[in-house]
Amino acid sequence: MHILHVVGARPNFMKAAPVMAVLRRRAGVHQTLVHTGQHYDQNMSRVFFQELGLPNPDIDLEVGSDSHAVQTAQIMMRFEAVVLAQRPDLVLVYGDVNSTVAAALVCAKLGVPVGHVEAGLRSFDRTMPEEINRLLTDQIADLLFTPSADGDENLLREGVAAEKIHRVGNVMIDTLVRLLPKAENRPILAELGLAEDGEWKGENGKGISEIREYVLVTLHRPSNVDEPAMLREIMQALDKISHDIPVIFPVHPRTRQQLKNSQFTIRNSQLHLVEPLGYLDFLALQRHATLVITDSGGIQEETTYLGVPCLTVRENTERPVTVALGTNILVGQDMERLQAEVGRILAGDGKRGQRPPLWDGHAAERIANVIEAGWRQ
Ligand code: UD1
Repeated sequence: MHILHVVGARPNFMKAAPVMAVLRRRAGVHQTLVHTGQHYDQNMSRVFFQELGLPNPDIDLEVGSDSHAVQTAQIMMRFEAVVLAQRPDLVLVYGDVNSTVAAALVCAKLGVPVGHVEAGLRSFDRTMPEEINRLLTDQIADLLFTPSADGDENLLREGVAAEKIHRVGNVMIDTLVRLLPKAENRPILAELGLAEDGEWKGENGKGISEIREYVLVTLHRPSNVDEPAMLREIMQALDKISHDIPVIFPVHPRTRQQLKNSQFTIRNSQLHLVEPLGYLDFLALQRHATLVITDSGGIQEETTYLGVPCLTVRENTERPVTVALGTNILVGQDMERLQAEVGRILAGDGKRGQRPPLWDGHAAERIANVIEAGWRQ
C-alpha cells in the first residue's frame, strides 16, 4: 500500500512524524513524504525534520509565502502533478493549515482517498483562516481521525458519516511523550539564564529546584499580531508582567515583521525576544515554565499534557478539552484579565488539570490500525 503524507507548516511536522514512524514498521506499506514548502526557514522547518527524525521529503513543492489564495492555488497546482505521477492509495493530511486543505481538495477531485489527522476541531469562528481549512477538509476527507470526543460530535452534526470517524487521540502528544526525555537534556535553560550553568544538568529533571520562575510566550495569530494597536497593547502587558518575572518570547516571523512596523521598543531587560526555537528547546522551556501565554492551538494541548498553566489570548478555542479538563484559560484580548490571571498563577493559585483520554503516546498506532484494517478488507 502506498501512503503519501503532506506537510507544509511548522505544526504539521510533529503530527506526521509519529504516524510515519509507526507505518514504517507495518509490512507492505510504502510511504512518500511531500513538503509543500509553506514554511521554509531553517528554524521554522528544517530543524524539526532533524529533531523529530522525519525523513527528508521525497518531494518539495517550494511554494513559499504569499496571499492565501496564491499559496493555496500554488500548492494545488504543484501537488496535482505529484498525485498523478505517484498514484498513492491514500493521502494523509495534518492539522488545519493552508497545505492541509489544498492537498485534500486535489485528492477529492482526483478520486484519491484522503485521511485527515486531527479532524473535527472547531472554534466556530469563521474569521480564522484555520477554521475554514478545517471545515472544508473534513467535508471531503474519507477517513477522519479525531483527538477528542468533541471532534466526533462536531463531525456528526455536520453530516459526516459515523463510519468515517475514528477517535484515535492526539498524535502531537505521541511526539511529546517520545521526545520529552531528550528535551530535558538540552542546555537551553542555562543559555537563557533561567538556570545556573553547571547546576542545571538537564538530566531528566535533576536540578529542577535550581530553575528560576519564568513565563513563556508565543503569539502569531493574525487577530493578535496583524492589528498594530492590538499588538502594542499585548506588548505593553508583557512588558508589565516582565517587571515581576522574566518573559521568554520566541518570535514567529509574522510577528517579527509586525513588531518592526509597530515601532514598539523594549525597555525592560527581563522581556527577552528570541528567534523561533526548535522542537526540543521549546519543549524544555514549556516543561519548566511557571506559565505559558499563547495563541497557538498546539501549545494549548502541550501545556495541558504537561500540567503547566496556559493563558490563551483568544476569544475561542477549537480545543475545548484543554479548558474543560486541562490547564487552559481563555483570556480573550483583554489585557487586564491576562495580567490578573498571571498574578493569580504567580500567587500559587494556578489552574490544575488532567490529561484528556487517549492522549497517551499511542495515537499513531491507532491510526495505523484503522488504515491497515481498511486496506485488508
Ligand atoms: C501558519 C498556519 C497557522 C499555524 C502557523 C504555525 C495557515 C493559514 N496558517 O501560519 O495555522 O499555526 O503556520 O507557524 O496555514 N515566514 C517566514 N519563514 C517561514 C514561514 C513563514 O519568514 O518559514 C513568514 C512569511 O513572511 C509569511 C509569514 O511568515 O508571510 C506567515 O507565514 P504563513 O505560512 O502564511 O502563515 P503563518 O502565520 O506561519
